[in-house]
Amino acid sequence: QSKSDHQLVLMHEFAADMYHHILLNTEEGQAALDYLENRGFTREIIEKNKIGWSLPEWNYMASALKRKGFSEEELEASGLGIPREQSSGYFDRFRGRIMFPIMNETGKVIAFSGRVLEHTKQEAKYMNSPESPIFQKSQVLYNVHHARSAIRKNRQIILFEGFMDVIAAGKAGVDNALATMGTSLTAQHIRQMKRFAQEVVICFDGDNAGWEAAKRAAIALNEENFKVEVAVLPGKMDPDDYVKENGAEAFKDQIIGKPHAFIAFAMMHAKRNKNFQYENDLLQYIQEVLQLLAGRSSPLERDLYIKQLSGETGLSQEAILQHYRKLENKTIERNRPEPTMVKASKKEPKQV
Ligand code: UTP
Ligand code: MN
Ligand code: MN
Ligand code: MN
Ligand code: MN
Repeated sequence: QSKSDHQLVLMHEFAADMYHHILLNTEEGQAALDYLENRGFTREIIEKNKIGWSLPEWNYMASALKRKGFSEEELEASGLGIPREQSSGYFDRFRGRIMFPIMNETGKVIAFSGRVLEHTKQEAKYMNSPESPIFQKSQVLYNVHHARSAIRKNRQIILFEGFMDVIAAGKAGVDNALATMGTSLTAQHIRQMKRFAQEVVICFDGDNAGWEAAKRAAIALNEENFKVEVAVLPGKMDPDDYVKENGAEAFKDQIIGKPHAFIAFAMMHAKRNKNFQYENDLLQYIQEVLQLLAGRSSPLERDLYIKQLSGETGLSQEAILQHYRKLENKTIERNRPEPTMVKASKKEPKQV
């Protein structure tokens, strides 16, 4: 880590301590503390995650960092200050927001996500730190620092959409929890996850966006040879909503404890917004599921899901199996080695 990176980390550590102090010990932090309490945040949770409050003033943090001896260049590079357009000086990026520090693998604060108390359509619910020399969204997973040992112990990662869900899961003792920082899952995230475990349970929000993101994440992880399961929430709830409504125990037992296998989830996903009275929907459904099955599943899985497809659609297992074989041949065709390699192998002696 370079000297300037180290400075940026120091600034974030300083800011996190100050936000945290303001939340817990000042009059100005009271409304935010009430909000958090209302959402089920205990003192312990607030302290463990070093949650804070940024004052709604224009340059409280910028001044404090300057007084601490950090330069304007550092202020800008950290993303905590934004240069004023009309005059000289800097103003605070985060004003009047509940501050969630984002920590790197060693537990150092490298960025923030700030939530407005009441979110209107006018401004984003969460404001995040911009990319900086110490923070790349496409690489950072929330809670890695806390979750690492639990992940190794359980040999499994529970992947959430939001850090609020990671925190809610913590109430249920689900400590092997990670979340992306508002981006979809990237190859770098997956590489990092690989270092910790081979199994993932995806538990995203129950709204349409959550289902679509879960499908994409499931396919990406499956392709990287993770054992993938998906825990599904009723209705449009997210994990945090579910914990609030049904309690942490129910969340652990009924949701995290009963995940669906990758293909079973893909079938649920493919069935959404489809009406089997329309033959197009029906055929598309079969096509989608068989495509995922082709080339990946064991004979037992294939048999299981083809039976299920037949039951659901009323088409014969024979017809579905025939179509499956066609798709499978296409998959094999696609995966065939490059022509140059075929040529090279021609020179080898014929097998008898
Ligand atoms: P959600 O909208 O599902 O947030 O976004 P949430 O966790 O349920 O938050 P609450 O319960 O309403 O407070 C999931 C994730 O997407 C990113 C954040 O990382 C969030 O954790 N996000 C969302 C943003 O970056 N900006 C936004 O404005 C909204
Ligand atoms: Mn969501
Ligand atoms: Mn959510
Ligand atoms: Mn939520
Ligand atoms: Mn919400």
